[in-house]
Amino acid sequence: MPLITFEGIDGCGKSTQINLLEEYFREKRVNFSVFREPGGTFIGEKIRSVLLDKENEDMSAKAEFMLYASSRAQLTEKEIKPRLNSGEYVVLDRYVDSSVAYQGFGRGLGKRMIILINEFATDILYPDLTFYLEIDKKTFEKRLYTKKDGKDRLESEGWEFMQKVMKGYNSLKNSKRFVVLDGRLEPKQIFKSVIDNVEKHFAL
Ligand code: TYD
Repeated sequence: MPLITFEGIDGCGKSTQINLLEEYFREKRVNFSVFREPGGTFIGEKIRSVLLDKENEDMSAKAEFMLYASSRAQLTEKEIKPRLNSGEYVVLDRYVDSSVAYQGFGRGLGKRMIILINEFATDILYPDLTFYLEIDKKTFEKRLYTKKDGKDRLESEGWEFMQKVMKGYNSLKNSKRFVVLDGRLEPKQIFKSVIDNVEKHFAL
């Protein structure tokens, strides 16, 4: 059941790595699917637009978390599990760890309840391998802060918030499935480590 997730704060470079992994899987003729959270299903994309809508500034932290959990429950049951069961690789742009980091630590809801509800939403389905792309303030500001126009509700958060989110990710680093990568490096260089780990882990 090869489930691979990518995690990190906003602007960490997940999407670039996922694109490279897609190319690699295509070349290797590996059967795979990629989904993004929140979203990835018809209902999930609707939930995503509620979450990102600037008009919803008044959303409570708990309401926000339940929406993420709801989108995740739909994605897990309708897309992820059936594909894993049929032997496909599934790659996720964010999953359970994002809620631990953003809602648990960023919004201060705490780790315990987030993990409990995540496990309820996913039937305790955890990734086999998680790539965490770590960046610093300089890189974050270079990639995101300058993007003033067209920011959605969530992208309006600054470095102070991201530091809390990073504390959340740091609290997960000891987990065996977690691979920490230096997101400040060139995408090609980072991808070498991604491939090394994927090949080692899944004997590809
Ligand atoms: P995403 O579309 O992945 O944006 P980015 O490309 O910046 O990573 O994620 C949208 C936002 O949703 C991002 O700011 C992180 C946030 N998020 C949470 O707060 N909790 C969650 O559980 C998930 C999945 C995402």
